[in-house]
Amino acid sequence: MSHKKIAIAIDGPAGAGKSSISKVVAKELQYLYIDTGAMYRAVTWAVLHEHLEVSNQKAVEALLPSLDLTMEPTDTAFKVFVRGEDITDYIRQQKINENVSTIASYKGVRQYLVERQQAMASVGGVILDGRDIGSVVLPNAELKIYLTASVEARAMRRYLEVKGTTNEQSLEDIKISVMQRDKMDKTRQESPLIQVEDAILVDSSNMTFDETVDYILHLVREQIEHE
Ligand code: DC
Repeated sequence: MSHKKIAIAIDGPAGAGKSSISKVVAKELQYLYIDTGAMYRAVTWAVLHEHLEVSNQKAVEALLPSLDLTMEPTDTAFKVFVRGEDITDYIRQQKINENVSTIASYKGVRQYLVERQQAMASVGGVILDGRDIGSVVLPNAELKIYLTASVEARAMRRYLEVKGTTNEQSLEDIKISVMQRDKMDKTRQESPLIQVEDAILVDSSNMTFDETVDYILHLVREQIEHE
């Protein structure tokens, strides 16, 4: 069997489990995992931290050069730093969820982050997850997966994840927020979320976490054998 290291693109809607699954798959393969959503979240955190108007595209884009956004993939996590400060613990807050799709719709923000993602991915043996990985960031990735699940399944997973934490929300509110983000991500002008033609569709609505990981690992191994 070939031991060639490939590039894997995993795209899909919010809450499909892309990051948690990619993290486990990357660890198993000893690949570098890059959570591109965390980078859009980090920019959103900085915008809110600086009290900028989220709707002010010019001001948001003008902030980018001074951000010094850096990422540090670790064994179990993906850390994000803005001007040297580790902000990983703050980027999953509801306030960020509510604003990140707007920030991610800005052309200048996307250009800034895509460049960084491509530079990080150039080492090979990588898994990137996001919305535009197969279409824009790594159009030549050897394996492209579109990982999705029904709105109900995704809302329920998120509900169970935040239940009992300070981010707790009703199932109905989560469902509405998931649908809003889907709509924004799929209909925006800049690199909307799409399933590219050469991506393999994985619908995890009725699959457990472990089943999904195993299936993706199977797809990766099949691809590596073809290389
Ligand atoms: O995957 P996530 O929920 O952490 O992503 C947060 C937001 O960032 C989401 O609304 C879509 C956007 N995003 C994007 O536009 N492109 C990516 N490659 C990754 C995320």
